[in-house]
Amino acid sequence: MKERELKKNNGLDAGLRALHDIFTVTGPQMLDIAEKFYEAMLAGLAGQKGPLKMLPSFLSVPTGKECGVFLSVDFGGTNVRVSLIELRGNGRITVIKKISTPLKEPGRYDYTSSAATGRELFGFLAEQIAGLVRPGENIPLGHTFSFPTEMRSLNQAVLIGWTKEFKTGMTEGRDITLLLREALQRQGLHGIRPVAVINDTVGTLLAAAYGDPHADIGSICGTGHNTCYLEPRPPHHNGPVIINIESGNFDMLPLNDFDRQLDRHSEKPGEQVLEKMVSGRYLGELMRLAVLDLVQKGCLFQKNSGNITGFPFKNNSLGAEHMSLMLGDGSDGLTGTAAWLKEHAGMRDPLPVELSALKTIASLLTTRAARLAAATYAGVLRRLDPFLKLPHTIAVDGSLYEKTPGFASHLRLALDEILRERAGQVTVKPAKDGSGMGAAIAAAIAAASEEML
Ligand code: GLC
Repeated sequence: MKERELKKNNGLDAGLRALHDIFTVTGPQMLDIAEKFYEAMLAGLAGQKGPLKMLPSFLSVPTGKECGVFLSVDFGGTNVRVSLIELRGNGRITVIKKISTPLKEPGRYDYTSSAATGRELFGFLAEQIAGLVRPGENIPLGHTFSFPTEMRSLNQAVLIGWTKEFKTGMTEGRDITLLLREALQRQGLHGIRPVAVINDTVGTLLAAAYGDPHADIGSICGTGHNTCYLEPRPPHHNGPVIINIESGNFDMLPLNDFDRQLDRHSEKPGEQVLEKMVSGRYLGELMRLAVLDLVQKGCLFQKNSGNITGFPFKNNSLGAEHMSLMLGDGSDGLTGTAAWLKEHAGMRDPLPVELSALKTIASLLTTRAARLAAATYAGVLRRLDPFLKLPHTIAVDGSLYEKTPGFASHLRLALDEILRERAGQVTVKPAKDGSGMGAAIAAAIAAASEEML
């Protein structure tokens, strides 16, 4: 190898080692995070100000006997999903029809931007619903609204504040069900009756608990990150209640300069600190910052740096889906990654070590994300059952868990590391589309309690 290339490789190796050090969450750190998370949960339950809002949902887990046909609207990620769902009892759920539409189409519309209003956004949701039902149909609707909301009843939620970089105007502080109901009226859908509004974590737990009596934790590892659980002794309720922790806002965490840089340039600096380290909305940008640093230090892409066009110089030019592509690239020459670089950075012939460096960085970030999420689950388990005497199921939905190579296995390994000989008591399982199905279950519970009145 020529001397210059050798020097560069050494620089790259050292750069990667430094990234490894700052992005590694050690075993003792996970235990410390679990402990602090548990204490923050207790503080939140006691109504003290702190990172965890601990929002009650007005729901417990389902009996499994809920039946009927319901509409579900699942809103809060990249796409809005509207489904017609049949609950058939004992964990059997059939999705009769489903449509999924992006909330933004570059150059056409963007309902997540500050240029759009809540009225327009909900009008768009109502249009999607109209695409799925026949005029005049009467169907109860469950609504998954995946943002922090103050729940005033099972059917009344007020948006506390947007997260995940959503900026839609005139929505914060508003009654979400009212906005939906008004939009349905404007659309002429008079028979579509919103009866329940829930968080997506709650939907995920409901869907899992419909067929699994041990399910007591629901989590999303997707565009955003958050967890809920079945609180056995809620302070202001009789009997168990599902609590939306809004764990993405947890902030007692070891941050590095890249985390701080990302936070400074986010829509809400200082908020959603855990989410900014764990979720798909932010992981790509975090990786871009790390790659950019190596480029600026002269250890990566030097041969190409003069003519790179987009990545890594352009903000948000890397998404979590691209990280998945790199992580899943099993080809000898990492040809998928090379093709991506050609398309997104205009880079023609990156060195093999440079391609594998990208894979390494993607892996460091997803591993850290999985270990942080696992540490918070351990905090929740401590509240539920400190000695893990009973079996527990953690149901997880979201693109990161479902699609990012390595994320789910690192999550499991990290839990095993934390819980040690009791780890076998805890099952982690995917709840694909759980958040939408959970909305139908919440609607069934609400409709049944209406009938009893
Ligand atoms: C954000 C929202 C939270 C939601 C999560 C996953 O953290 O604040 O309510 O559950 O994203 O979608």
